[in-house]
Amino acid sequence: MDSVISVNALSKTYDNGFSALKNVNLEIHRGEILALLGPNGAGKTTLISTITGIVSSTSGTVLVDGYDNVTQYREARSRVGLVPQELTIGAFESVYATVAFSRGLFGSKPNPAYIEKILKSLSLWDKKDDQLRMLSGGMKRRVLIAKALSHEPTILFLDEPTAGVDVELRKDMWRLVEELRADGVTIILTTHYIEEAEEIADRVAVINGGEILLVEDKAELMQKLGKKELRVELKSPAASIPEGLKEFDVALAEDGNQLVYTYQTNQESTGITAVLQAINAAGLSLKDIQTSQSSLEDIFVDLVREQA
Ligand SMILES: Nc1ncnc2c1ncn2[C@@H]1O[C@H](COP(=O)(O)OP(=O)(O)OP(=O)(O)O)[C@@H](O)[C@H]1O
Ligand SMILES: [Mg+2]
Repeated sequence: MDSVISVNALSKTYDNGFSALKNVNLEIHRGEILALLGPNGAGKTTLISTITGIVSSTSGTVLVDGYDNVTQYREARSRVGLVPQELTIGAFESVYATVAFSRGLFGSKPNPAYIEKILKSLSLWDKKDDQLRMLSGGMKRRVLIAKALSHEPTILFLDEPTAGVDVELRKDMWRLVEELRADGVTIILTTHYIEEAEEIADRVAVINGGEILLVEDKAELMQKLGKKELRVELKSPAASIPEGLKEFDVALAEDGNQLVYTYQTNQESTGITAVLQAINAAGLSLKDIQTSQSSLEDIFVDLVREQA
């Protein structure tokens, strides 16, 4: 697999002695959407800031498209767009000037047509002459995204892009992410809305306490760690779990009206047939059956809890 970013044995200890990244190794594939998940204080922003060169590392190396992010900073940085978690933005400049200026900082030639395109796709075009201080928080976030895209980066970092934004912006954002992906842009995002990661990411990395716990293809992760539930609704309630079902992971629910069987999705045999046979043998009649699968969120919570 072609890596666009290689993080090797990266560590970061802040000036106060706090160790925020501990020997992180991570390969980011060209063109993928990687979701970086972790609880507050896990080290997500530190990792992104260190990769993009905003924060210096204590040890280890980062290659961005083959360029060392310290010794070849300009080449590395010009490929990267960053939408920071914190709203850091000027006051008196106009929206248009801010975005166009940002492009110039990376040494890219002016391209008014491109700037117009990104401002339009972020619904900022009618605000292009407004001063930044006049914008709402959500509008400022849109400007930060436009700034990050101003120099046509091939790698985009989005640090909590949807924290505190309304539904409209969230939709705009995900549509933009899809468009960028179609153009071959690699996207790394952190989010606390795990359903979003579940929907959009190709791979998922989980970080906690400055350590990467796992990096995995999303579909494989859900297959491997996911649990499924079979709910059997009974015609009449059962007073207790029938003898023949006690060897299975079965529980009674809804005042005995339902039997709930939990099983791992990665096992060769699910045991469903045996469970249904045992229910039948116990003389219970079925009214309805339904199955459900655990979400990425359930898996994430389990993982982080296990480590704690
Ligand atoms: N400048 C700093 N000096 C000392 N410690 C810091 C500094 N910046 C961050 N930290 C600490 O490093 C740890 C990781 O912080 P970081 O901001 O990377 O977490 P995060 O995963 O992005 O969290 P969140 O989900 O809240 O954004 C935290 O314990 C934080 O307090
Ligand atoms: Mg953060």
